[in-house]
Amino acid sequence: MTLWRADELAKAVGSHDPGFAVTGISIDTRSLQPGDLFVALQAERDGHDFVADAFAKGAAGALVSRDVTGGSQLRVPDTLAALNSLGSAARARCPAKLIAVTGSVGKTTTKEMLRRILGGFGLTHAAEASFNNHIGVPLTLARMPRETAFAVLELGMNHPGEILPLAKLASPDAAIITSIERAHVGLMGSIEAIMLEKASIFQGLRAGGTAIIPYDSRFHVALSALVPAGLPQFSFGEGEFAEARLLSAESDPVSCDVKAIVAGIKVEFILGAPGRHMAMNAIAALAACHAIGLDVVKAAEKIEAFMPVSGRGLRHIINIGGHRVYLLDESYNASAASIRAALEVLALQPGRKIAVLGDILELGDQAEVEHLALRDDVLQYADHVFTCGDMMGRLFETLPTDRRGAHAPTAAALAPIVKSALRHNDAVLVKGSYGSRMRDVIALLEGPY
Ligand SMILES: Nc1ncnc2c1ncn2[C@@H]1O[C@H](COP(=O)(O)OP(=O)(O)OP(=O)(O)O)[C@@H](O)[C@H]1O
Ligand SMILES: [Mg+2]
Repeated sequence: MTLWRADELAKAVGSHDPGFAVTGISIDTRSLQPGDLFVALQAERDGHDFVADAFAKGAAGALVSRDVTGGSQLRVPDTLAALNSLGSAARARCPAKLIAVTGSVGKTTTKEMLRRILGGFGLTHAAEASFNNHIGVPLTLARMPRETAFAVLELGMNHPGEILPLAKLASPDAAIITSIERAHVGLMGSIEAIMLEKASIFQGLRAGGTAIIPYDSRFHVALSALVPAGLPQFSFGEGEFAEARLLSAESDPVSCDVKAIVAGIKVEFILGAPGRHMAMNAIAALAACHAIGLDVVKAAEKIEAFMPVSGRGLRHIINIGGHRVYLLDESYNASAASIRAALEVLALQPGRKIAVLGDILELGDQAEVEHLALRDDVLQYADHVFTCGDMMGRLFETLPTDRRGAHAPTAAALAPIVKSALRHNDAVLVKGSYGSRMRDVIALLEGPY
């Protein structure tokens, strides 16, 4: 199916007619599909060095900023700027109802919930994985088919000024802020700066677009005041006056029975992920569905197909030397808020509750305070604690000896210690920032037996 005709490509990036159409867009030859437009970006690596490989893998053409050989090219001054132009042209030609999601935690999870819901109403296009930055957002838009009915984008940031241009490009019909927490505070300076940055998503809303605001946040009023004048707002939360209100969230080890009222309509559904935080993400998703005119009762039915994303709360049973172990894979990322939420899910599990925690990164001079502040939650929800990294090591030192499992400098060093300590029916939570490589623990625990 043609995604971009030659004339559309030329018009979108303001260049000559390249004489080829494309069926997809790729920035990485490892995942390139035949018929794709290969976009040679200059990031850590220079994409121009991979153009020959792209043609060898069947690229229909290459978007480049210097001449290449071996196939058809579309020449532009700046390939990232051209990718943004393609994204903007894709948004302009497509009547899709678009929901943009930002927030300190739960963006990808909420986006995946929306993908499930909206997919039940019409052709839905959503960002892959955590494609939420200055490359991921225009790439996701440039890949959006013109007949898309619904789209979901995730907007991320870790420096001031990153969200507004992404929000303008996305031009959403509804924009969700999941929550405001201290994630990346080391780079942002303060939680107030994080709030202001997140709030800039509302400035990208198209005419009549709705701002979806976390009612329980201490920044609720401030966020509400930052919505451009004349645009509708809709709040979600547990608070009495939240317009999408969570009434109850009864969790068991693998699911959550959620009751809520959205715009006066009662809904109840079973979410395939335990925890109040997951129920809250679901309420935010339903609030956005209401804002774009969908039937929330039908939407609630469709959310039941949602399952946690790998590395973000997926639970699976593994076998270690004949022992059955429940593994909570939370290895993709971490903030203090998400560690607390994941510990509450650990507490719901059968058997001994084992927490394996790696450092939370990008907290700057507030790192030690943030890690030590986890002590009470760790003691309340975990029986035994294993840690790696400098900051988690300081937390480990504050724990009573009977709760200490072990500490090691790295995840790779900690993994075999954890493996040999696990017993039948244990539940083990593995969590830390991406840079703390907790996936090394997951890999060893899941490894071939
Ligand atoms: N609303 C929430 N409140 C607290 N923790 C949450 C919430 N939603 C998800 N989490 C926790 O945060 C983890 C990460 O969630 P998710 O990947 O959706 O966040 P994200 O905002 O997309 O992160 P990133 O900034 O890395 O893209 C989940 O595995 C879960 O443990
Ligand atoms: Mg994400």
